[in-house]
Amino acid sequence: MHIPLFKTYISWRSVWNVSTLLIKSNYGTYLGEGPQVKALEQEFGQMFGVKNVSVLNSGTSALELSYELAGIGPGDEVISPVLTFSGTNSCLVHRGAHIVFADTDRDLNVDIEDVKRKITPKTKAIVFVHFGGNNRGLKELLEIGAQKNIIIIEDAAQAIGSDFWGQADFTCLSFQAIKTFTTGDGGALLCKDDEHDKKGRRLRWFGYDREKKQKEGDTDLVEAGYKYHMNDITAAIGRGNLISLPKMIAHRKTLMEEYRRQGIPASIWFAHYLSPRRKELMAFLKESGIHTGIHHYRNDAYTLFGGRKPFKIMDEIENQYLLLPLHHGMNVNDVRRICSLIKSFHEIH
Ligand SMILES: Cc1ncc(COP(=O)(O)O)c(C=O)c1O
Repeated sequence: MHIPLFKTYISWRSVWNVSTLLIKSNYGTYLGEGPQVKALEQEFGQMFGVKNVSVLNSGTSALELSYELAGIGPGDEVISPVLTFSGTNSCLVHRGAHIVFADTDRDLNVDIEDVKRKITPKTKAIVFVHFGGNNRGLKELLEIGAQKNIIIIEDAAQAIGSDFWGQADFTCLSFQAIKTFTTGDGGALLCKDDEHDKKGRRLRWFGYDREKKQKEGDTDLVEAGYKYHMNDITAAIGRGNLISLPKMIAHRKTLMEEYRRQGIPASIWFAHYLSPRRKELMAFLKESGIHTGIHHYRNDAYTLFGGRKPFKIMDEIENQYLLLPLHHGMNVNDVRRICSLIKSFHEIH
């Protein structure tokens, strides 16, 4: 059986919600930011026990807004993982920040010891990426941030379903197509501080205070905003998928535990493996219908970020790591099959 690396999940309720909304729009229902957006924010917040959920058109918009709200500006020193989706760091380039890369660990998570070594009196913020949903070291980092007055930003784009996220000054979520919870494309920003939340909501819609505009007719602008808000079509997809989310997460956890039982590291979004024969292993698995990938590359290798620098673990595992599938389109027996194929590959080679 063919197993893709990632698989989009759209529930029948999402299809129903969107169809109904589109039909009703002919009779005056919102398609832009309206009641569906508000309802998704409330329902999502309730499900995960988090406040100030501001839903947006992407996780990247959440990163852009969080960096702006954190006051990151030209020359500010920000520590960020060298191994992440490039968007984590390209949004820092937009702010003119000075990015200080921290090494990865063998679980592809940021190496917290390296983060600690790189903190200086000039460190303004630290971006913690939940790689695959991994959160090791986040608690310690939050304590360090509080002690040293350093802003902590969680790039939790891959974290939904894991057990610890949404604790930092800012948390950025992605609801993009292949994420555990999807709205097709979308994301959310969670701000610890209510004033940041209010400003973030203005910035997501050109700088207007929507509540004031609607209630009081106040149309003044004092800051330049963006068009980052979520629309009601997207939110309607999300509200449908949210109902199935606890089941999806439980299924992912079962697969994650099975991978771990078989000795293969796994997080909520994927499993991964380090192999000195990565290319051959990926081809071998593909012959059996199992798709794997590398997905994210070391960011210092991109010209944009100034070129390669030495990193102890990143240098060592750069050509070894591969991601393995973990999603609703597979079951525990598929995990066992993948693990036994990996074992037999290593017996042959
Ligand atoms: C770690 C990480 N950060 C940020 C993003 C950006 O999210 P979006 O695609 O919703 O803009 C992604 C998306 O894949 C991601 O994996």
